[in-house]
Amino acid sequence: MTTNTGVFITFEGIDGSGKSTQTRLLAERLKKRGRDVILTREPGGSTGAEEIRRLVLEGDPDRWSAETELLLFTAARRDHLERTIIPALEAGKVVICDRFADSTRMYQGLSRGDLRAKVDQLHDLMIGREPDLTVLIDMDPTVGLARAKGRQTAEERFEDFGQELQVKMRQGFLDLAKQYKDRFRLIDGNREIAEVASDIEQAVMDYLS
Ligand code: ADP
Ligand code: TYD
Repeated sequence: MTTNTGVFITFEGIDGSGKSTQTRLLAERLKKRGRDVILTREPGGSTGAEEIRRLVLEGDPDRWSAETELLLFTAARRDHLERTIIPALEAGKVVICDRFADSTRMYQGLSRGDLRAKVDQLHDLMIGREPDLTVLIDMDPTVGLARAKGRQTAEERFEDFGQELQVKMRQGFLDLAKQYKDRFRLIDGNREIAEVASDIEQAVMDYLS
């Protein structure tokens, strides 16, 4: 499952770090520069994957075991990849995706026991595709959780795991950025929205040129 005419950019970071805000702004800025862009998200981004989204993001925190959750997120990703991401890349577009496999490496790989090896095996078996560039928005976990909670939606299953999970995920993402340093760009999210957006635009334009 590899195709390389387009560019695949993912955003990662803890809940409330500003990913949705910044993916939108980057898409607008790249469109203004004449790029053909699609903005998508995980879990979701295709009809089937959006259905799975409801199963994994709503309800009790202990609704699924970590293993079942891993299978559901991977099923959603496979559908998203087949129906949305790969066709867009084949058409030469810039695909901006709010979360991707690095979120599974963190949330299912680290949050409840150490499942990282299984996450990586399943990724190799069923996904087999890494982003070209990953923007990691780094953020104080307390601020992130307060922002995320401020949204008041039904999709709070992960936010309900609480502050401790946010702290662990933040550190995990920073470690991941070191592991995959060629494709990661670390952005300080504890600043004004416009300032963060300019840094991201610069990092992406450096990559594209
Ligand atoms: P994520 O997608 O990472 O969960 P969002 O983009 O949805 O984050 O942002 C969460 C909340 O914080 C939103 O209400 C958003 O308007 C606000 N927000 C995003 N970035 C900033 C920022 N740099 N400073 C202050 N508030 C922000
Ligand atoms: P998202 O809608 O991006 O939430 P937020 O805007 O709060 O960052 O993602 C919802 C939750 O799904 C988030 O808490 C992380 C979790 N998640 C996983 O656990 N595994 C995954 O593979 C993905 C893509 C998301």
